[in-house]
Amino acid sequence: MPFSKNILCIGAGYVGGPTMAMIAHKCPHYKVTVVDINPKRIAEWNFDDLPIYEPGLDKIVTSTRGKNLFFSTEIERGIKEAEIIFVSVNTPVKTFGAGAGMAADLQYWEKTARQILKYSESSKIIVEKSTFPVRTAFAMERILSLTENDIHFDVLSNPEFLAEGTAIKDLEYPDRVLLGSRETPSGVKARDELVKIYASWVPKERIITSNIWSSELSKLVANAFLAQRISSINSFTALCEKTEADITEVARAIGMDSRLGNKFLNSSLGWGGSCFKKDILNLVYLCRNYGLSKEADYWEGVVRINEYQKERFVLNMVSAMFNTLVSKKICLFGFAFKANTSDTRESPAIFISKRLLDEKAELVITDPKALDNAMTDLDGIDGKISYIEDPYEASDGCDAIAVMTEWEIYKSLDFEKIYRSMVKPAFIFDGRNILDHKGLFDIGFNVFPIGKPVLTHF
Ligand code: NAD
Ligand code: UGA
Repeated sequence: MPFSKNILCIGAGYVGGPTMAMIAHKCPHYKVTVVDINPKRIAEWNFDDLPIYEPGLDKIVTSTRGKNLFFSTEIERGIKEAEIIFVSVNTPVKTFGAGAGMAADLQYWEKTARQILKYSESSKIIVEKSTFPVRTAFAMERILSLTENDIHFDVLSNPEFLAEGTAIKDLEYPDRVLLGSRETPSGVKARDELVKIYASWVPKERIITSNIWSSELSKLVANAFLAQRISSINSFTALCEKTEADITEVARAIGMDSRLGNKFLNSSLGWGGSCFKKDILNLVYLCRNYGLSKEADYWEGVVRINEYQKERFVLNMVSAMFNTLVSKKICLFGFAFKANTSDTRESPAIFISKRLLDEKAELVITDPKALDNAMTDLDGIDGKISYIEDPYEASDGCDAIAVMTEWEIYKSLDFEKIYRSMVKPAFIFDGRNILDHKGLFDIGFNVFPIGKPVLTHF
């Protein structure tokens, strides 16, 4: 049976791969092709060992791959054949020139737009799936309007709200799907085409439409609010530690107010991930560009308090361990930026590792999925680091354990056995507040949670 539409996604990353796999899974009558300039990544998508770890992803990829889901490096062919093109390339923070360290680096996006322009032989719907600065669609339209053929491009915004570790659930049962378009007849027609795709599995009331700029901005604002919420709860952890208040009890008390809600109130050693920091800094840069310095300063504070939280974690470790970490062996439990992912981009563990090595500590890093990425992140850094997957072996002979990632497996370890194998006095710094602190204290550990009274034997 011929496919009713050809969908292309440019960019086979954490967003492009899972989102297209879900569309292919839910819409067997569409042919979905994902292309990338990175042949290694494409080869991995075509084998059993997928390039990213995401619970449930392998099942939907294997059930659709080769049927209506294809991974390829043939970008030119993909563009020619597609009626709808999702752009899901990376938009990292610029590291050079104007706006370095703040603005979005749009080189990958612009290359993609020019490739679409160059190879297109028929009219197409172009969908911004990546997170872009507000008004990027305008620039995209300008580039695509340079076409010499008699073809037309409709540019739409369809930001992705999935979180890593829960991507498949988020894609299958999204809180909302947002579609921003021009209110022209062809813009509305293009929007209806996208509604048709999502309506295959998302309830109609959860598919919302808006003007294109609101859609672009909503994505940045959503991430800013989410990060702000964690920064807000984290900003009270030091006060809790000074006053014997307990941040978990405080979070429960405020979270029961239905106006505030109870999600995203887990205090931590700081938030990480590839997007929060870059998206907020991008927002800050945009505000400054529009002369909105007060707004820029306000949101920059969300990032600043997060940097402070990571530094505070290290300083607490130094002070607890008698003001020196020289030659002490510290085992990091987890390296991924959150549980259930192998992704380590902007993981607090990277910052903490570098700072602990500055203090001349030795590191042993354990993580069930992220050790390869950890090795790459810390490659070439001065200091003694070993990588061991088994947490018992990793903590053997260590002076301290520091929990970086809230992996479920750490909650049910045999800590009596671990305690016996460690140097005494043994310390635990729980950067995620996931362990049984009283139980650990009873075993003999000196326990330092986040935003809670410490439990020490001296
Ligand atoms: P990623 O780095 O994992 O993937 C991007 C891919 O695009 C890479 O494989 C890269 O090789 C490819 N690429 C770059 N230029 C290309 C070109 N010209 N032609 C073909 N391929 C090209 O990034 P990601 O995490 O998937 O994020 C993509 C976008 O989605 C970003 O804007 C990000 O902010 C946004 N986003 C990410 C998440 C997430 O959880 N990671 C969630 C929501 C939104
Ligand atoms: C986040 C957003 O949740 C997604 O909606 C968005 O699509 C995505 O960014 C993006 O644009 O990339 P993600 O970064 O994958 O998703 O993961 P989150 O669950 O948001 O966690 C981010 C960081 O905050 C992690 O380091 C996590 O451990 C930390 N966190 C989260 C806390 O410290 N406390 C919490 O209560 C929640």
